[in-house]
Amino acid sequence: MARLSFATLRILVTSALPYANGDIHFGQVAGAYLPADIFVKYHRLRGSDVVYVCGSDEHGVPITMTAQKQGLTPREVVDKYHVRIREAFKDFGIEFDNYSRTSLPLHHETSQGFFRRVYDKGYIKPRTTRQLYCPCCKMFLADRYVEGICPNCRAEGARGDQCEACGRWIEPFDLIEPRCKTCGETPEIRETKHWFFALSRFQEPLRKWLASKPDWKPNVRRFCEGWFKAGLRDRSITRDLSWGVPVPLEEAKDKVMYVWFDAPIGYVSSTKEWARQQGKPDRWRDYWEDSSTRLVHFIGKDNIVFHAMVWPAMLMAFDEWVLPTEIPANEFLNIESRKFSTSRNWALWLPEYLSRFPADPLRYALAVNLPENRDVDFAWRDYHARNNNELADILGNFVNRVAVFLHKNYSGRVPDVTADDDAGLEVLKAIEAAPGRIATMIDGFRIKDAAREVMTLPALGNRYFDKQSPWRSHTDDRQACDRTMATCVRLISALEVLLYPFLPHTSRRIGQMLGLGVRSWADAANPAIPGELGEPTILFTKLDDTFVDAQMARLGAEPEDTKEAQVISLDEFKKVELKTARVESAEKVEGTDKLVKMSIDLGGEKRQIVAGIGKAYRPEDLVGKTIVVVANLAPAKIRGVESRGMLLAAVDGDEIALVTVDRETKAGCEVS
Ligand code: 2FM
Ligand code: ZN
Repeated sequence: MARLSFATLRILVTSALPYANGDIHFGQVAGAYLPADIFVKYHRLRGSDVVYVCGSDEHGVPITMTAQKQGLTPREVVDKYHVRIREAFKDFGIEFDNYSRTSLPLHHETSQGFFRRVYDKGYIKPRTTRQLYCPCCKMFLADRYVEGICPNCRAEGARGDQCEACGRWIEPFDLIEPRCKTCGETPEIRETKHWFFALSRFQEPLRKWLASKPDWKPNVRRFCEGWFKAGLRDRSITRDLSWGVPVPLEEAKDKVMYVWFDAPIGYVSSTKEWARQQGKPDRWRDYWEDSSTRLVHFIGKDNIVFHAMVWPAMLMAFDEWVLPTEIPANEFLNIESRKFSTSRNWALWLPEYLSRFPADPLRYALAVNLPENRDVDFAWRDYHARNNNELADILGNFVNRVAVFLHKNYSGRVPDVTADDDAGLEVLKAIEAAPGRIATMIDGFRIKDAAREVMTLPALGNRYFDKQSPWRSHTDDRQACDRTMATCVRLISALEVLLYPFLPHTSRRIGQMLGLGVRSWADAANPAIPGELGEPTILFTKLDDTFVDAQMARLGAEPEDTKEAQVISLDEFKKVELKTARVESAEKVEGTDKLVKMSIDLGGEKRQIVAGIGKAYRPEDLVGKTIVVVANLAPAKIRGVESRGMLLAAVDGDEIALVTVDRETKAGCEVS
């Protein structure tokens, strides 16, 4: 059988440095981490010279604002989340060669050296500009300290650094109807001095460079073309903050770098830190200073402008390190058909998930549904189906039935034969073809296709096992049975390798059963089989029918971590629409004691809500009451019943008292 051979490549892979101001959510995982980890694991198996670096992005307004909100110092914020993020990645099986952090002295030095060189080359110049200033908060409003209407797409709520709706990088000054995010005041305009990076001088070099990347994903190319059309403008890269990398210029010593200037340099400092850990402090140069390095930045689409335009322009100005070779940017992951939102807590958090469930089913559910070309939806129903019908019933079942059969009928020993019958050869051919096919997909960043392709193998295995019916041939035709079982074990052996990038924990468990030691991608085409198989194991646990509803009920609820007393602004409070409502009918949700389904009148509008008050109130006693509800809460399904709103009640364990009004009012009155 032909062996696959691969040339050794030097590859440096990065995933966007997550801000250390909160936990990692599923959208980030699907966007920048899981696909990168799959790509890297595959390349490690192939024997490529691959290094995968990342780290926490610990500067900028996202950090200082979180500190303000949580009553912590920026240092406390990053120390807390850096560890949580690092541990969650580890538990999820994401294996960086180094996970660094941008508050390290090494990063500060590297960024300052970079700034200084680009400054010395004349690409950074001071300018006195007019900026937004909040007289009430007594500060200039940079980045996320200010919000308004996007000058580009007119979306409301655009932040001073970027508009989430269109992805544009914004200058706060250009926002329409700007408001101070902290106090809600309209800012005034004041003069201030900042240092600007000459992005405009890179319009042509960038255009040429991008023209040499016809294979890049259309989302990245489209985005850049839009920027070129609008024309690149010089950008301020300094900020009046006390948290960040100090600007290495005497006349700017009270300023720090804009976080998007130092963050991508974090890829380099993380590589430097890795090289030091290897005891070869100069090894980072082999990657960053060798023009044959394949530099791959995995990011989400909100980061395209910085990775495909600003960072390459910075690198061109610096002129010593390699430019990105590929930027496989992913689109967004919606949650249960709604846009992800931290403020509405419409989000799923990785550490929270990992505290309750194993990593691999989520890796799988996300991998087969990656937002590679368009926004996709994550739904618990889909996760449930993938776990039960694909992982448990197809993959888990195949591995288990083969192991059980061998233990029952062969004392665990694997017949040392190679199939030469048509059915067996068909399976062996599929095994031989799989590694090459999957490799092409992963290398072309079609990781979703690759994940689906791998899973065709256990499905093939089950069909083969059924058709060959070894339970029959074991008595009728022992040689046929031997061939069948050897072929099945070969398939499992190939799966140990091919599954590894996607389901590393599962692959390891299969590996323990096989005991074949270290494997490589090339092994998978003509996989070895062991003389004996370890004990059969159950690889996946099936989830019961209540699983989906239970997860849905948690969605939108407040996460444990942020429950500490938080101060919110009046603006934030005003987002909650409280209204009086009249209960028109009420009944228990079938099969539950606790849940009551109510039809309510919100002043002309009828709605159905579900509340867990069945133990405190009889449905018939609720009819006619005037209650208070949150009218603009995202709809949710509770036990499969739609609820469009939430009533207010005082809750003391099982003691529940509804919030009602003290005097008769109309239904639909605003409560404020
Ligand atoms: O969007 C973000 O979460 C940023 N912290 C990503 C930074 S990527 C890189 F440049 F460091
Ligand atoms: Zn203000």
